[in-house]
Amino acid sequence: MVKYDLLNFTVRGDHTGNLVALEKGTDFPFDIKRVYYIWGTDKNAIRGRHAHRKLEQVIVCTSGSCDFILDDGHERATVHLDNPAVGLHIKSNIWREFTNFSPDCVVMVLASEHYDESDYIRDYQQFKMEIAK
Ligand code: TYD
Repeated sequence: MVKYDLLNFTVRGDHTGNLVALEKGTDFPFDIKRVYYIWGTDKNAIRGRHAHRKLEQVIVCTSGSCDFILDDGHERATVHLDNPAVGLHIKSNIWREFTNFSPDCVVMVLASEHYDESDYIRDYQQFKMEIAK
């Protein structure tokens, strides 16, 4: 089984709408150092196509939907994200690709480290080699 967690955030909602607050130390698995978001993506584009050596991420589809394909080098799992109150928690050494974007899809990524290109494994064969060590 590919290892990942789906985090169910506390929703503070009332008749006027909903709010999720993500704060260090409460309801969140790591200290957030970076946030980025992706939108306006072509439906059939495939993004990601990499793994991280150390980075942990929580991925939230804050609007619309998309699919995350996760691969630990042995098995694959597809996670459909379509709920702003759910976070997909991925730790290191998981190859990820994401696709099937709805037109209104906004993907927000909360990351445990600053951007560091040397933490990326962008070649699938290299990924397989590193996890076999
Ligand atoms: P990339 O990681 O390839 O995006 P995706 O995994 O969604 O396909 O990043 C696209 C570009 O943005 C690449 O040139 C690196 C840059 N980038 C940053 O400068 N900072 C960041 O935090 C991220 C995630 C990407």
